[in-house]
Amino acid sequence: MGKIIIVASGKGGTGKTTFTSHIGARLAAEGQLTVLVDADAGFRNLDLALGMESSIVYDYSDYINGTAALDDVLIKNTENENLYFVAAPQSALTADFDEERTAGFWESLKNRFDFVLADAPAGMGDGFMFAAKYADEAIIVSLPESSSLRDADRVVAELEECGIETIRLVLNRLDAGLIEKKIFMNVDDCVDVLSIPILGLIPEDEAVTESMSKGKPLLDPDKFGAGMAIKNISARLMGIDVRMMNFDSEKKGLLAKIKSLFSRS
Ligand SMILES: Nc1ncnc2c1ncn2[C@@H]1O[C@H](COP(=O)(O)OP(=O)(O)O)[C@@H](O)[C@H]1O
Ligand SMILES: [Mg+2]
Repeated sequence: MGKIIIVASGKGGTGKTTFTSHIGARLAAEGQLTVLVDADAGFRNLDLALGMESSIVYDYSDYINGTAALDDVLIKNTENENLYFVAAPQSALTADFDEERTAGFWESLKNRFDFVLADAPAGMGDGFMFAAKYADEAIIVSLPESSSLRDADRVVAELEECGIETIRLVLNRLDAGLIEKKIFMNVDDCVDVLSIPILGLIPEDEAVTESMSKGKPLLDPDKFGAGMAIKNISARLMGIDVRMMNFDSEKKGLLAKIKSLFSRS
C-alpha cells in the first residue's frame, strides 16, 4: 500500500508541476512505482512537463464516471516503466463527481503504486479538494517570499482541516544572490512565516527550464543544483535521512557553489 501526496501552493506559478514531474521521474528512477495525477483540471500541463501530451486518450473523469477502466486512464511513461500518469479533464467540475467512485479511484491507485502524487491547482478550489480529501500527506511548494508563504498558510490550514497531519514545505527557486540582496527571504525566515517542517530546498536552475521545455524531467542527480535537490527530496520521501542543504551555517560555501554554478551557465 502506497501513499497519496498532494502537491499544493497558495499562489500560482511556484513550481508545483515542475516539482511533481521531477520528483516523479526521480522516484521512478530509484525503482519506486509512481503515478502522477494531474489534479489541475481545466489548466492541465503536467502532461507537457512529462512529454506525454500525445498519449492521452482518457482522463480520470472517464474512470470516475464509469466510461473507462483504470488501466485505460493509466498512461505508462516511455522513458521509465515505473512511472505512470493520469490526465486531468480539459474542463471539469470535479465537485460533481460521485464521492464513492472518487474515493475508489484514489484507493485503487494507492493499492497499486508506492507513490501517488497529485499536482494540485493553486489555492483551494475543486481540483484542490479532489485530491486533498483523499491525500495522506501534503507538500507545499513556495517561493521564498512573504506573499507566496502567506497564501500557503491558508492552504496549510485547509489541509489540516482535511485531516492531513504530515504537511511539509519545499522552498523553490532559491537564489543566493537574491537572498543576499534581501529580495528573497532566507530559509530561517521562511520557516518562521510558515511553521511546518522543511522537506527540501531547490535552487533556481536553468536545467529545470530546459527539462520542462523538452518534456524530460529527469535531471542529473549528481550535478549540484536542482538535480541534486530533487534527489535529496525523493530520498527523504523514501524514508532515507539526507542532510538538509543548510543555507545559514554553510552560507559561504553554499553561496559560493551556487554562484559558481550560475556564473558558468
Ligand atoms: N527551480 C527552478 N528553476 C528554474 N525555473 C523553475 C524552477 N521551478 C519552476 N521553474 C519554472 O517556473 C515556472 C512555473 O512552474 P510551474 O511548475 O508551472 O508552477 P505551478 O505548477 O506551481 O503553477 C515554469 O516555467 C518552470 O519552468
Ligand atoms: Mg501547475
